[in-house]
Amino acid sequence: MPVSAESISLHLARRQEGYGRGGRMAFEKDMVTITSGLRHGLTMGSPISMSLANRAFQKDADNWPVVMSAEPVDEAVERITIPRPGHADLIGVQKYRFDDVRPVIERSSARETAMRVACCAIARDFLNYFGIEIGGHVIQLGNIGYTGWDSIRETSSALLEAGGEKLFREADKSEVRCLDPQLTEQMVDHIKKKRKQGSSLGGIYEIVITGVPAGLGSYVHWDRKLDGLLAQAILSTQAMKGVQVGLGFEAGKLSGHEVHDEISWDGSTYRRKTNRAGGIEGGVSTGMPIIIQGIMKPIPTMLTPIKTVDIDTKEEVDTRYERSDVCALPRAVVVAENVLAPVIANAFLEKYGGDSIAEISERYSRARS
Ligand SMILES: Cc1cc2nc3c(=O)[nH]c(=O)nc-3n(C[C@H](O)[C@H](O)[C@H](O)COP(=O)(O)O)c2cc1C
Repeated sequence: MPVSAESISLHLARRQEGYGRGGRMAFEKDMVTITSGLRHGLTMGSPISMSLANRAFQKDADNWPVVMSAEPVDEAVERITIPRPGHADLIGVQKYRFDDVRPVIERSSARETAMRVACCAIARDFLNYFGIEIGGHVIQLGNIGYTGWDSIRETSSALLEAGGEKLFREADKSEVRCLDPQLTEQMVDHIKKKRKQGSSLGGIYEIVITGVPAGLGSYVHWDRKLDGLLAQAILSTQAMKGVQVGLGFEAGKLSGHEVHDEISWDGSTYRRKTNRAGGIEGGVSTGMPIIIQGIMKPIPTMLTPIKTVDIDTKEEVDTRYERSDVCALPRAVVVAENVLAPVIANAFLEKYGGDSIAEISERYSRARS
C-alpha cells in the first residue's frame, strides 16, 4: 500500500488548526519522518516507524534536555508538586508512587494525540481506496450549538451525500470547524469571552463515516460490536467524556415511532428512510453513513486558578498556569476522525481481508456485484 508523509502531514496540520489554541501551538509545527516499513513509498510488511520532532520542546526551555534527560543528571531539577484538577496529575502520582508530577504530565498529555493522528492517517488512507471517508464537525461549543438532531441534519445532509472528505473540507473553513457560519461567529465570541475570564470550554463534535458497506462488525460477540468499538476509540482519547451513536441520548426522550428508521427496498438494495440509528443496528453497519458524536470536557488548565493541594505540604494552594488551549474542541475533531479509522479498517479487513490492496479490492467488488 502506498504511504506518504504528505498524506499523514495533512491531518497533523489540521490537528494544529482551530480557534482557541494557546500560545504553544503558534510555534509547534509537527513534521513526520517515516523511518521504516516502506520501500519506494510502498509498505513491505515490516512495522512502519515514524518520528515526530517536537520543536516546541526544543525551544520551550533551555534546560528541557536536563528536565527530560533519559540518563540520571547531576544538577537538581525542580519537582512539580501542585497537581492540576481535571488532569491525571494527582491520581498518577498516587497510583505510581511518584514524588513529582512531571512524569504524569508528560505521559498523560494529549500531545500523544499527534502521533495517534499520524498512525491512524494510514488506516484512513487505506479506507479511502474503498470509498470510505471520514469527516467531522463541531455541533456544540459550551452553550452555543444546534438545537438538536434535526437542525444538525438540515445543515449537514447534503455534505453527507457528498462524502466525509467534502464534509471535513467544508468544516475546516470555519475557525471552529462548525458548518454553520452564524454559530461559528457565536462560538468564536464565546471562546473570546471565556479566555478573558481565564476559563476554558469543551463541547460536542460529530464524526460521519461515509461509504461504509453494510455488514461490518457483528452482534454475535460483545467485543465485535462496531458501535462498542467506535465508542472505545473515542473514549480512549484525552478529555472525552461521552459518546452518542445516531440520535444517542435524544432517543431516550422520544417514542419508538420517532426513533426507528423505516426500511425500504430501492430495487437493488435495502435502505433506511432516515438514519437516526447512525448507520449501525445490532452492532453491525447498515450501509447508511455512520454518525457518532463525542463529548469533550473543558480544558483543565485555566488562567484563573482553582484550588488544589501541594503534595509536599498538603496545604491548599492555587493551581499553576502553563500555556494552554482555552478550547481544543476544533482540534479534537481531527483526533476523533483519525482514531475511528483503524476501527473501521479492522472491521473491513475482517470481512474482505487479503494480502494486497489488489486482492482486497477483488474480494470487495465481488461481494458487491
Ligand atoms: C487535542 C487536545 C488538546 C488538549 N490540549 C490541552 C491543553 O492545552 N491544556 C490542558 O490542560 N488540557 C488539554 N487537553 C485535555 C487534557 O489532555 C485532558 O483533560 C486530560 O488528559 C485529562 O483527561 P481525562 O480525564 O479524560 O483523561 C487536550 C485534549 C485534547 C484531545
